[in-house]
Amino acid sequence: MSLHPILITGSKGLLGSELCRQLGQDAVGIDLPEFDITDRGMVARRIEGLRPRAVINTAAYTAVDRAEDEPNVCWAVNVAGVANLLDACCAVDAKFVQISTDYVFGGARLDERRPFCETDVPLALGVYAESKLEAERLVEDAAGEHLIVRTSGLYGPAAEHSAGNFVDTMLRLADAGSSIRVVDDQWTVPSYVPHVARAIAFLVNESHCGTFHVVNFGQTTWYGFAREIFELLGREVDLTAVSTADYPTRAWRPAYSVLDGGKYDSLPGRPAMATWQDALSTHLK
Ligand SMILES: NC(=O)c1ccc[n+]([C@@H]2O[C@H](COP(=O)([O-])OP(=O)(O)OC[C@H]3O[C@@H](n4cnc5c(N)ncnc54)[C@H](OP(=O)(O)O)[C@@H]3O)[C@@H](O)[C@H]2O)c1
Repeated sequence: MSLHPILITGSKGLLGSELCRQLGQDAVGIDLPEFDITDRGMVARRIEGLRPRAVINTAAYTAVDRAEDEPNVCWAVNVAGVANLLDACCAVDAKFVQISTDYVFGGARLDERRPFCETDVPLALGVYAESKLEAERLVEDAAGEHLIVRTSGLYGPAAEHSAGNFVDTMLRLADAGSSIRVVDDQWTVPSYVPHVARAIAFLVNESHCGTFHVVNFGQTTWYGFAREIFELLGREVDLTAVSTADYPTRAWRPAYSVLDGGKYDSLPGRPAMATWQDALSTHLK
């Protein structure tokens, strides 16, 4: 372990576990049940003891639909937890890196349909999205160095705490021989966790600050994503495109929350992001 390592919260989740893998000896990963970001005293003691040079917060309440029924639990993790981490980082002069989401643009409308840039004004709808946007505001208002990385549609290698991602769900349904219905009117950027983690590590190690969108290139609907999975695998499945109206969910889902990764892509020396199709092909090999 290095003298001032990078602390990764949520280290057993989808993104956190990949960041730990990539950063190796330079990282210390922590997660529930040993480390709870809502426990202010524990957060302060652990960060004071470790004196990390940066904290990457991937810990989050990510159950988007369940959040509608337990908003207090969601806000305790996604907002109060972030406030605890920010204060502890400030006390030891550690950089704070917050992972955020395309859902902060769920209620935003542009005059034309184009991907959202870092300078576009977010408008969140729903408990999860609102909590993530409020966390961004806390980070922006905090003293000290910080970075906000927004990403979307994550999938990648299995993680100990992750309930599974969209690709796993599609494969499970196909293996069960189920008819699969997927919405074709919600646009996003499927993003491959190893590529996102590599970009975050670069941003942290190169001392970048501010807000960055980190996604694979391109855009598609969830149906388009599902179709590509099965085409790449050469699998015949009973896959039907449906509309959001045909597939109601407890929480609001954005019709268009595509992130523009151009700011990241203009950085000299950055690890390049692949198209979402090439990234998916890498994952499925
Ligand atoms: N997945 C996506 O498609 C996506 C898209 C855009 C942005 N994001 C953002 O990316 C980040 C990482 O997402 P992910 O998909 O990797 O999430 P994930 O797989 O759900 O991992 C989150 C981790 O945080 C832990 N955690 C929850 N509450 C905690 C607490 N109070 N204290 C400490 N750890 C806690 C979870 O443990 P338990 O499992 O035991 O609760 C889990 O290990 C999140 O900020 C998320 O909002 C994700």
